[in-house]
Amino acid sequence: MEKHFWPNNWVFILAAIGSAAGLGNLWRFPYLAYEHGGGAFVLALIIANLVIGIPLLTLEIGLGQMMQSGASDAFGHIKKQFRYIGWAALTLGFMVLSYYMVVVSWGVNYLGASLSLGWGNDTEGFFFNNILNLSSGVDTLGGMSWPALSGLIVAWVFVYLAVHKGVQSISKAVVWTATIPFVILAILIIRAVTLDGALDGLKLFLIPDWGALVDPKLWLAAFSQVFFSLSLAFGIMIAYGSLKKRTDEITTGVLWIAGGNFLVSIMSGIVVFGTLGYMATQQGVSVSSVVTGGPALAFVVFPQAINLLPAFNSLFAILFFGMFLMLAIDSAFSLLEAVAVSFKDRYPQTSTRKVAFLLSLVGIISGIVFTTTGGLYFLDIVDHFVVNYGLVVIGILEALTVGWLWKEKELENFINERSKLKIGKKWNMSIRYIIPLFLGWLLIWNTVNELRVPYGEYPTWALLCIGVLPLLLVPVVSFAIEKLTSKTKMNEE
Ligand code: PHE
Repeated sequence: MEKHFWPNNWVFILAAIGSAAGLGNLWRFPYLAYEHGGGAFVLALIIANLVIGIPLLTLEIGLGQMMQSGASDAFGHIKKQFRYIGWAALTLGFMVLSYYMVVVSWGVNYLGASLSLGWGNDTEGFFFNNILNLSSGVDTLGGMSWPALSGLIVAWVFVYLAVHKGVQSISKAVVWTATIPFVILAILIIRAVTLDGALDGLKLFLIPDWGALVDPKLWLAAFSQVFFSLSLAFGIMIAYGSLKKRTDEITTGVLWIAGGNFLVSIMSGIVVFGTLGYMATQQGVSVSSVVTGGPALAFVVFPQAINLLPAFNSLFAILFFGMFLMLAIDSAFSLLEAVAVSFKDRYPQTSTRKVAFLLSLVGIISGIVFTTTGGLYFLDIVDHFVVNYGLVVIGILEALTVGWLWKEKELENFINERSKLKIGKKWNMSIRYIIPLFLGWLLIWNTVNELRVPYGEYPTWALLCIGVLPLLLVPVVSFAIEKLTSKTKMNEE
């Protein structure tokens, strides 16, 4: 079967920005900045982008493009055993996908409710009772959130449609989903900063507390944010790189991707904090008392702020949740495509449609647990462990295999031959030393803190069964997938 590529390098760049820019920018970044010294965090994030984000992004895209295959075979071409690293990355990515889509499903419900501001005045009740049907704790299950389940199915139909013709359908989708959010963000910025009190919010977000720069927590937060935000370590950028022609330029593209992603973060921060400033002024409370991140920001606080707008409330609701969905959906389908590409490598004769369909089916089924009445707790726990441990371990393994166990010169030369902007010593330093050391530190720090103060207010069994156990199963699953799929292709080689 003939292999398809991105129609041109710009479409690839858009797709990668689409994958990178998502909820990490909209609801994770502004909150982290607020927590870690405002402008000081923004500076830390720029540094983290330069010393680990951009080098690793270059590595992933370059590796995919060089090997012309998805994560598992790209690593497999370095050394056969490394294929497991690829599968482990993809397995973790698929876990993220299954809950990320549930968040998208809430967004689908909210877009539906936007026209009539259906959340009413009790936005908290609407989210937790009407949408989530949330139980009293992780140990109390039974029952479903029907809005979440139906939203999930709708959301998956869109993701399937985006991926069902592989790079061809993705190219069409990202031309919209990766550009419109910039336009909407610009409109929302103008609205937000012209509201009363916006400045009070923006001050909290941007005025630097330079003292925070000596706090190791700030750096750890900046590093993990860069990882999550650039969609690294889940095999996505490797897969997207493998869909580039072997002759395509690399490094300038990487800068566009990192820059575009950073811009979305800053724009989101302005919208979020401008709006929070206004809301606090209207309610006569301090801005810090209304600041939140995560689901509560988008689904409780923002609807409240939208209610308080002086005019065109529904319009702004539609713009906000429309943007929310577009930001999230192209991150979601990049996760699916990453897995699909690796399966296609193993079963080149099978149609892309079929692969996409089967994976979507598995995705919906594995998402169902997050649409039960205890879904939010499950989601929170899985997210915590996958992002803080799984992703970090894969990042370390990636850097070590490429930097130490392979003549990374090969990759360096490959990248430099096709790029105006050359990589060299600094890139090598980052891959060999900085990334493994910093991520190693992050891992140890997280583990020590976790043991001292377990995450959230969950019972230990829940953390172990829902958070730790799935992580321990990742190597087993990777092994099984490799064994099941390698019979066909690798034997032919
Ligand atoms: N980069 C996406 C975001 O910021 C999240 C994501 C992480 C998506 C990993 C795919 C893989 O929301």
